[in-house]
Amino acid sequence: RTVGVVLAGGVGARLGLKVPKQMVKIAGKTILEHTVSALDASPEIDELVVMITPGWSEHVATLLGSRYGKLTRILEGGATRNETTRRVLDALGEEECKVVLHDAVRPLLDERVIKDCVDALDSYGAVDVVIPSADTIVEVDAHDVISSIPDRNRLRRGQTPQAFKLSVLRAAYAKALDDPYFAATDDCGVVLKYLPEVPIKTVAGAEHNIKVTHPVDLFIADKLFQLASQGPSHLTAAERSELLRDRTIVILG
Ligand code: CTP
Repeated sequence: RTVGVVLAGGVGARLGLKVPKQMVKIAGKTILEHTVSALDASPEIDELVVMITPGWSEHVATLLGSRYGKLTRILEGGATRNETTRRVLDALGEEECKVVLHDAVRPLLDERVIKDCVDALDSYGAVDVVIPSADTIVEVDAHDVISSIPDRNRLRRGQTPQAFKLSVLRAAYAKALDDPYFAATDDCGVVLKYLPEVPIKTVAGAEHNIKVTHPVDLFIADKLFQLASQGPSHLTAAERSELLRDRTIVILG
């Protein structure tokens, strides 16, 4: 059994709107609905749980209604992303399953990416979704002076979903909670730190799987949806992805 989890517990401080950013409408629907829809439509997902910003659960229950057949629970998240994940663990039973955690604010999620994550869990306990970095990534010290320039060929940018065998995620968080110095990272970071013996497989994400973080991202995501619904249907997924990437640069320019 595979449980999809939509992490929608944040407030979107960097976007700075009166509502959490997952409640903003782009391309005719809220960002949250786009994301829930992508996971609900996936044949890989059996059950769907939405973790929502405290105070928003009634509103979201009304918004989502009964349109999503796999959605079983809408629960309130915690003060940090890690606290939200911990609440997911509280909500899931002890029976082993696959868990696919996805940011609510990445609404352009491909079925191919979901399938690759779930398939990789047959061989690995933890899976991350990454893309190569077009930019050189530099590391700086406390004075903003470069301390190292890691080889770009070995660097990736992390997206979501992040997928786990439930027992692995549970064991990592059990250790993290025992650590008084626990500092928040993403969920793969928790596994890497507290269960270093568990290899975390990476699978390829997509350039268009963007995270709506800053105001410009709303504009880009909206345009990407227009292209996705109106773009040439004869293109393969790879060609479409390429096209989306090129057009994004045009939009930004
Ligand atoms: N998230 C969550 N619970 C939290 C914080 C974040 O479930 N306590 C979710 C967000 O809703 C989002 C995803 O984690 O879908 C990625 O986080 P981020 O982009 O940082 O969202 P926010 O925390 O809402 O944004 P900001 O940092 O600007 O406040």
